[in-house]
Amino acid sequence: MSEYGITKSSVGRKILMALSGFFLLVFLLQHFAINMLSVISDDAFNTVSDFMGYNPLVQFALQPVLIFGVIFHLAMGMYLEFQNTKARNKKYAKNNGAANSSWMSRNMIITGVMVLLFLGLHFYDFWWHEITEKYLEGGAESFTGSGRDTTRYSHELQEKFVDIWRVIIYCLSFVFLSLHLLHGFQSAFQSVGFRHSKYTPLIKKLGTAYAIIIPAGFIFIALFHHFNH
Ligand code: HEM
Repeated sequence: MSEYGITKSSVGRKILMALSGFFLLVFLLQHFAINMLSVISDDAFNTVSDFMGYNPLVQFALQPVLIFGVIFHLAMGMYLEFQNTKARNKKYAKNNGAANSSWMSRNMIITGVMVLLFLGLHFYDFWWHEITEKYLEGGAESFTGSGRDTTRYSHELQEKFVDIWRVIIYCLSFVFLSLHLLHGFQSAFQSVGFRHSKYTPLIKKLGTAYAIIIPAGFIFIALFHHFNH
């Protein structure tokens, strides 16, 4: 370890954290685009959902990579936070972080855990429902079966947002997601060592736009289905 408590492996871990963050940013963008279809056209949403839900490449290659990405990001986040707290406690009697860092950057672990709690509920609501539908209740043949109902997705999604409490919990979670992304987006670029006098300010603006537009869009989707059922 160097004098500053920075080791090669801690830099490596931050880079891996950033790479898994980039991957999740891309996932979230496509997830948002697909879910926006549910607002625009039931047919389009059903077609894309059925493709994503039954395409072997998506199901057996991309989905496991995604699940791994989520777990990795979470575990590495916890580990890095633990290491940071240890290093801070050693060096300073008092942590005066507010003087030179934002609330978001100091509370990534809190906003991250809130998003994680949301994911627990969200997996139960949608992902687990899909798994039981395809592999457990229907059996393996329902996965390949051509007689499956390809129009169920839009109304199943709408039914989830009838319950006002679920809508409130989802919308609050999207606010935490926004706070997480407000720091996370630009921090990922810093962690991979990207610094440029012209592009860094642009990335910060892009990060702010992403962190506001995507969660606000998710809030819109949840409210839309609640009030249009
Ligand atoms: C109104 C907002 C949202 C809606 C309507 C929605 C809808 C869905 C649906 C229908 C599925 C099931 C896909 C399937 O397995 O066939 C799903 C899965 C998933 N969602 Fe969301 N989602 C929303 C927001 C979010 C957010 C904000 C995140 C991340 C922070 C997220 C992360 C995931 C993940 C990781 C999966 C499992 C992977 C997959 O199967 O595609 N979702 N969501």
